[in-house]
Amino acid sequence: MKKTMDWSKIGFGYIKTNTMITCLYSDGKWSELQSNTDDNISISALSASLHYGLQAFEGLKAYMGADGIVRLFRPDENAKRLQSSAGYLGMVAPDTELFIKAVEMAVRENIDFVPPFGSGATLYIRPLLLGVGPQIGLDPSKEFLFLVAVTPVGGYNDVSGATKVVIDRDHDRAAPHGTGCYKVGGNYAAAMMSGYRAKKDGYSSVLYLDPKEKRWIDECGTSNFFGIRGNSYITPHSSSILPSITNKSIMTIAESFGMDVQKRPVEITELDSFDEVGSCGTAVVISPIYQIDDPAEHRIYTYKNAGAAGTTSNKLYDALYKIQFGISPDTFGWINTL
Ligand SMILES: Cc1ncc(COP(=O)(O)O)c(C=O)c1O
Repeated sequence: MKKTMDWSKIGFGYIKTNTMITCLYSDGKWSELQSNTDDNISISALSASLHYGLQAFEGLKAYMGADGIVRLFRPDENAKRLQSSAGYLGMVAPDTELFIKAVEMAVRENIDFVPPFGSGATLYIRPLLLGVGPQIGLDPSKEFLFLVAVTPVGGYNDVSGATKVVIDRDHDRAAPHGTGCYKVGGNYAAAMMSGYRAKKDGYSSVLYLDPKEKRWIDECGTSNFFGIRGNSYITPHSSSILPSITNKSIMTIAESFGMDVQKRPVEITELDSFDEVGSCGTAVVISPIYQIDDPAEHRIYTYKNAGAAGTTSNKLYDALYKIQFGISPDTFGWINTL
């Protein structure tokens, strides 16, 4: 596999791997983990996941280090976030031990698909929880299918190229006290059209404002937002933002650099005052933003680092990247090795 694959050409599509791991919850308990060569599943057409959106998912990566060791980054945080998403939807999620066991099994069985160090590519891991079993009533499911699929992915935007984003005042991603802070498919369905429109217009992503007042910054379609002002790392806090594990880690790194870290409501008027802005998440890592367009208000915010990351974004990216790939020691205890 490694010999034939041109890792520089893979994007964020899907490449079939050896196996997918599944596990079924019924009669109050989880089954043993199963390894499947088929990535099709068979569930009732009357499953609540298909009709009522009773599903939640996660996204994390396996990184091949320079030392040939494969690392997972904070999988326990993904387990906890899946449990939180499932709890909101009245679903049963695997406990942290089972979650990590399934993720590690999926990576081990597909170790040949972990792209080599230095290729810029990684193995993306997609845990998915579905409400299954036939029902027509709008009630919580009684049976759940948990699966972990993996596929190699290329670098998304990453720190090497700055992007521009657009504020879309016509669409909301999530309601003020709805599902925005959970990783459930409905949020992505709701944001699909505005994201598609933004990409068609040449933007990497939409920057969503708070859905109630359109006054505060929320986040991008698949990543959190941050601004750097002087020695401060500032990232929005609101009830409709997904708590990013990447952002949480960057905040810890920034604090360790002696930066002033602020997680608080960020008013759109602050956009003028940042030295650097960017988005962060598992897929994009840190993606610097050089321009934010607000067409409805006829405003364009530009940042001096067009085409590259600013100094501070670069420094934070470098520190995170080096921990993920085992170049720096795991001082924060974030790494599971395989
Ligand atoms: C809406 C949204 N915000 C933020 C993130 C970043 O979260 P994380 O850093 O845990 O990948 C993601 C990706 O999971 C996302 O989909």
